[in-house]
Amino acid sequence: MSTLLLALQAAGWSRVLLCSVSTQCYRTMSSQKLLVSPPPPLLQPLSVPDRLLLGPGPSNPPPRILSAGGRQLIGHMHKEMIQIMDEIKLGIQYAFQTKNPLTLAVSGTGHCAMEAAVLNMVEQGDKVLVAVNGFWGERVTDIAKRLGAEVHQLVKNPGEYFTLEEIEKGLIQYAPFLFFITHGESSTGVVQPLDGLGELCHRYNCLLLVDAVASLGGTPVLMDQQGIDILYSGSQKVLSAPPGASPISFSNRARKKIYNRKTKPSSFYLDMEELAKYWGCDDNPRKYHHTAPINTFFCLREALAALAEKGLENSWKLHKENSLYLCEGLQKLGLKLFVKEPDARLPTVNTVFIPEGYDWKEITEYIMKNHGIEVSGGLGASAGKVLRIGLMGYNSTKFNVDRVLRALEDALQHCLKNKL
Ligand SMILES: *Cc1c(COP(=O)(O)O)cnc(C)c1O
Ligand SMILES: *[C@@H]1O[C@H](CO)[C@@H](O)[C@H](O)[C@H]1NC(C)=O
Repeated sequence: MSTLLLALQAAGWSRVLLCSVSTQCYRTMSSQKLLVSPPPPLLQPLSVPDRLLLGPGPSNPPPRILSAGGRQLIGHMHKEMIQIMDEIKLGIQYAFQTKNPLTLAVSGTGHCAMEAAVLNMVEQGDKVLVAVNGFWGERVTDIAKRLGAEVHQLVKNPGEYFTLEEIEKGLIQYAPFLFFITHGESSTGVVQPLDGLGELCHRYNCLLLVDAVASLGGTPVLMDQQGIDILYSGSQKVLSAPPGASPISFSNRARKKIYNRKTKPSSFYLDMEELAKYWGCDDNPRKYHHTAPINTFFCLREALAALAEKGLENSWKLHKENSLYLCEGLQKLGLKLFVKEPDARLPTVNTVFIPEGYDWKEITEYIMKNHGIEVSGGLGASAGKVLRIGLMGYNSTKFNVDRVLRALEDALQHCLKNKL
């Protein structure tokens, strides 16, 4: 080609040739005039501000995790990737404290794991009992109803947790095959005690499903010892990894129910039997299911490695200490904590009443604008009533507690509404 061009050029032909090529190009292009032009904002550089994320998630990833996300891609079926997925599996088994073979990360956020848990367990008409003491029970109710389950709710005031007696009553009254409860209720800031719950559920032939998206790594959850049948979490809370890969695990009891379904789960993407083959959780050969979010898995691998290095007990202790330190500081500012019982306070997402005369939105906006810190308002039943201050993973430090307390004190001085 280039030899030909050179020869033509030497012969003085090049201008004629190029001209005719480009005219032809122009004609074909103009016959398909573009309807949408390149959007001007996309022609500007990407803009991402530096913020300290102390809301209910995401939290700031440490440099180690950020750089893992920026590594070069490899193929999703390359042996190195399979190795990384195996390491993720081991990391989740450690974080969950389980030996379940059916343990993996779904390619999606916490909601994806939540949906995967429910849709693999539930078939049309199955009875499900959902503990509702905040936003997440309502969300699972919605998901289970969409899947055709017969859903009953056990309801408790936001800010409170369920006792074993209350749960037992519900199990007797509704005889569900599946019971859902939230371990770290991040809309209200409550931690649900889990001891004895698995045993109780099994006594009534019921499987126990627990949401630990906001609590994993921040406060103890021991899947096997507590008899939890299905446990899921997320990546962007205590693990301080970007959202998009969510740990999930099924006990052998739960796994049996899945493998004996009468109907296939409604989603191919989240079908655990298929995912188990992709993740090498059974004796079948590995099989392509979908292209894993490879770099997101790199990040999750590093997050789980960091947790393993630090140790679960240290991580729980650190979150507890920093939460206590924050709660003390909030009370010193004259603020009232939303969860009355100190032991029931979730160390990862702390809830505090918005004092009278203030608009929550003004406070959060003031803190964002003047201090570069994200804190959040309430969610669901707690909306308009509380501020939620997250102390999760990498940024759960005394230094950051001091920062957010100073910011809040400043906001309280500047945002007071004139009372009419
Ligand atoms: C954040 C959260 C979720 C949802 O996770 P996403 O990653 O936002 O989809 C579910 N449950 C609890 C308790 C949470 O805190
Ligand atoms: C997160 O916390 C650490 C430790 O206090 C700090 O070094 C880091 O700058 C914080 N990240 C952000 C985004 O503020």
